[in-house]
Amino acid sequence: MNPQPAAMRRWRSRSLTFRLTGTLIIALALLLALTAVVQVGLQERCAREAARINGLAMSETLYGALHTAMLNNDREGLHASVRNITEHDPDVRLRIFNKEGNIVFSSEPRELGTKVDMRSEACFKCHQADRPISKLPPGDRTRSFEVGGKPAMGVILPIDNEPACSNASCHAHPASKRLLGVLDVTLFVTQLERARRQTTLLMLGATGGVLLLVVGVVLFVVRNSVHRPITALTHTLAALGMGDYSARYENGEISEFAYLGNSVNKMAQALERANAELVGWAQTLEHRVEEKTAELRQAQEQMVRVERMASLGKLAAVVAHEINNPLASVVTYSKVLMRRWATRAKAGDETKENLQILEAIASESTRCGEIVSNLLLFARRTGSRMEPTDINQVIDRALFLIKHKMDLAQARPDLSLAADLPPVMCDPAQIEQAVLALCINAVEAMPNGGRLIVRTTVADPSGVRIVIEDTGVGMDEDVRKHIFEPFFTTKGEGEGRGLGLGLAVVYGIVQRHNGTIDVASEPGQGTRFTLFLPLAPAPGGEASG
Ligand SMILES: Nc1ncnc2c1ncn2[C@@H]1O[C@H](COP(=O)(O)OP(=O)(O)O)[C@@H](O)[C@H]1O
Ligand SMILES: [Mg+2]
Repeated sequence: MNPQPAAMRRWRSRSLTFRLTGTLIIALALLLALTAVVQVGLQERCAREAARINGLAMSETLYGALHTAMLNNDREGLHASVRNITEHDPDVRLRIFNKEGNIVFSSEPRELGTKVDMRSEACFKCHQADRPISKLPPGDRTRSFEVGGKPAMGVILPIDNEPACSNASCHAHPASKRLLGVLDVTLFVTQLERARRQTTLLMLGATGGVLLLVVGVVLFVVRNSVHRPITALTHTLAALGMGDYSARYENGEISEFAYLGNSVNKMAQALERANAELVGWAQTLEHRVEEKTAELRQAQEQMVRVERMASLGKLAAVVAHEINNPLASVVTYSKVLMRRWATRAKAGDETKENLQILEAIASESTRCGEIVSNLLLFARRTGSRMEPTDINQVIDRALFLIKHKMDLAQARPDLSLAADLPPVMCDPAQIEQAVLALCINAVEAMPNGGRLIVRTTVADPSGVRIVIEDTGVGMDEDVRKHIFEPFFTTKGEGEGRGLGLGLAVVYGIVQRHNGTIDVASEPGQGTRFTLFLPLAPAPGGEASG
């Protein structure tokens, strides 16, 4: 699991996204709430003012309607008018009281004859105890209150004594009287209040809606412009941290994040390159170590082989030297005996049999002699004659010697001899013997015919390379390991049995010339021997071994 996002989840309340979204939403919510409160307040004021103006206007109209009846001191007419108005509009209540506070007219009949409370809120403004009775300006004539839980607006309208009143025929009011009474109008503003509440609710609803919309917009913007790029960056960095150097930031919409992402991508590229280089170096190093290990192993095997060959060579030299003379005597004596018995003209069957035994002794002793001379050759107990030699000529001679054997085995020669081959300082007889031994083995490895490829090339460092290759049976690893050991042979019993000395002798010869011999072979794939001979053996090389 990715540890970074888990940590981010744990610290979500501290995240930039959370704080940015939270702050923006709170700020906008406060702003909207403030606006709503102000709006509601303003609207309430407007509604009140409208109600007040409306109330005043209505009171003036009512006053006008009642004016004539009052002027004529027509109490009945006044009553009828008041009834008519209040019945027509149940939201209007009227009463008229005189200067002393006695209610003389009222839309509520039970009030008639009663007295208004001068200390009541309606009267208080003009009749404050410690102030003389004053005339109220129109703005102060209205008041809001509740009647039985219903919102209402009251308007006080003083009925001044006009000249028309004092001069009227009824002479009810002397001219000295300034105020005749008060018209008190109560208007129920239930509908207006309901409309105002509805508007307020509508406004609050609209504010809530706008707030929701704003929250949506804020969430959308913050999510796309902040949260997503930050998450993408975090994931990229987490992947890089865990070693995935191919991770890249791919959200380039917001310029700041695009710039940051670009830098992260450049860093990732550099890391990827460095990592690839490191991996490359590690692989090269591993490869080189493997190469060197193989070289070392080869060198060690070569050393072991050289040592084994050297001790074998010494042993072979002693044995060969010791056996050579007695063997020569055996051959000589058996030949003398054979000659003597052969002159006996009438030899019997027994003599013939003895003669055959003597022949066998001579031939086997001759074979032993061959082994001994080969052993001496391998152990370098015979002297060598070094001279500048044309290797191509040596090869031609060797191939001529085995031509008959090749024809019998149906082995086709395939020669590719370099024309510019420099002369090599060597013993031509020994090199010829080595080439011969390799070619004989090659032909023997192709009992059903095949190709005997012989190539010479100029080789570095200054030397000559001889390649002798066949398309024969090949060898497996077990055989390949032992082929240079004296007496190692896979060629079984009988007439054509091998001595197992051919490659041992070749090895000895190559060693004496400071050269190298390599073999490449797979079962069924043929075999390739590669000889390298330096143009001149290093001083002391010929003497060693
Ligand atoms: N060209 C070759 N193809 C297959 N096997 C080979 C070849 N040359 C040598 N060998 C193997 O190496 C062994 C040793 O060869 P050598 O020393 O010449 O002894 P010999 O030929 O008497 O067996 C052979 O018996 C054979 O198994
Ligand atoms: Mg051989």
